[in-house]
Amino acid sequence: MESAMKAKFIGLAGALLLSACGQNAAPTETVKELMATKVQPTAKLYWDSVQYISDETGDHDIVPKNDAEWERTRKAAEDLGKLGELLKSDAYAAERGASWVQFSQGLIDISKQAEKAAADKKPEAIFEVGGTIYSVCSACHQAFPASTPEPGASATGGAA
Ligand code: HEC
Repeated sequence: MESAMKAKFIGLAGALLLSACGQNAAPTETVKELMATKVQPTAKLYWDSVQYISDETGDHDIVPKNDAEWERTRKAAEDLGKLGELLKSDAYAAERGASWVQFSQGLIDISKQAEKAAADKKPEAIFEVGGTIYSVCSACHQAFPASTPEPGASATGGAA
């Protein structure tokens, strides 16, 4: 018997073939896949664009250095908003209800602020909005916990 993993890989590689057979419609990625392959990397692009690092050798601030880097930051925010729209769409929201829609909308709203901060080329604003993005992610994760707990994720929320 094929492992699910292998079957899925074949499904991706041979999507055309499979749909021709009418075997596997699989219209959307799971939330888990979407998070891991799109939402997380996109948010990380945004978060990484501005970092205030202090160590014994001084301050090493990372901010976008040229137009291409500003644009990449702005684009990450725009993409995050689109992912919010996707999460809010029926494909993901239908079985999850009103609060899911609100959390998705939260991501859309904060992404607009994030995009503006980057368009205005304001590192401080990017840093601050980045923090709020993190709270938006966390709020949804608290309300809709992962299907399989991550190892070591059993701490009770922590006082941090
Ligand atoms: C509308 C709700 C919602 C929002 C908003 C949301 N997430 Fe998630 N996220 C989930 C759910 C639900 C899971 C658990 C999926 C599962 O395990 O089935 C998850 C899981 C994850 C995972 C783990 C994926 C894995 O491989 O197990 C990461 C990483 C993640 N989210 C990142 C983010 C980031 C970063 C943001 C904000 C930019 C965000 N999420 C915003 C609902 C959301």
